[in-house]
Amino acid sequence: MTIGFFDSGIGGLTVLEESLRRLPAQDYLYMADTLHVPYGTKPQEDVKSYILETVEMMMAEGLEALVVACNTATSIAVSELRERYALPIVGMEPAVKPAVEMNRATGKRVLVFATPLTLQMPKYYALVSRVDDGGIVDSLPLPELVHYCEDLQFDERIMSDYFRDKLSGYNLNEYGIVVLGCTHYPFYTNILRQILPSHIQIVNGNAGTIRRLSALLSRYGVAGGRGSGKVKFMCSSGDPAYIDKMRKALDFLYESNS
Ligand code: DGL
Repeated sequence: MTIGFFDSGIGGLTVLEESLRRLPAQDYLYMADTLHVPYGTKPQEDVKSYILETVEMMMAEGLEALVVACNTATSIAVSELRERYALPIVGMEPAVKPAVEMNRATGKRVLVFATPLTLQMPKYYALVSRVDDGGIVDSLPLPELVHYCEDLQFDERIMSDYFRDKLSGYNLNEYGIVVLGCTHYPFYTNILRQILPSHIQIVNGNAGTIRRLSALLSRYGVAGGRGSGKVKFMCSSGDPAYIDKMRKALDFLYESNS
């Protein structure tokens, strides 16, 4: 059983890492659209055609389930992918609903970080309108962050300065939760932990996504799995250096989460 994970770049590895821990008896194919990363600052129609092309390349490998491990790609193309392919497809959306529920008791606000494109899409607007009955959700686009991440820029000083600058207009005492609404952003959880006040929780949608994947696999009777946690890496440009970079980035995640 091979489960496909798709993202524009290395972001979806944060979701794959969660899956490898929770579902180690599956085999995986990870695909990055290196020809077009980043998605979040490009026009919607262009991004949609990049996604459809790249997922088509993955399907040739014989997948049994697909995780769209990218909030931006999910908001743009998950419905079309579900129409095209008759296999279980799990998408992602910023974890706004659990964050609002968690914050109800404290009366604090929720701050969502995501790509400009995710925040512009009707899907995001619909999500916030549905769950934010108290008007406590604010959204902050971080257009540069995927570039930093793709460059493996994890220098604490440089990245802390970047986040401090982005957050300078906010009174952080008003906030109880920061939602990481892009799969690249959990690479920066440890740095954010150091600069955000300790009362602010940092949440992402990765665990929820893998719970949904697991439930779907159970429904198809393959929850136990027959694989061994093997990962095949692919990228749309076919660049071997990028394959090495993905392995390194996955190791970085193992280390920072252990
Ligand atoms: N990792 C993707 C997400 O979750 C976006 C990255 C990009 O802008 O390409 O939104």
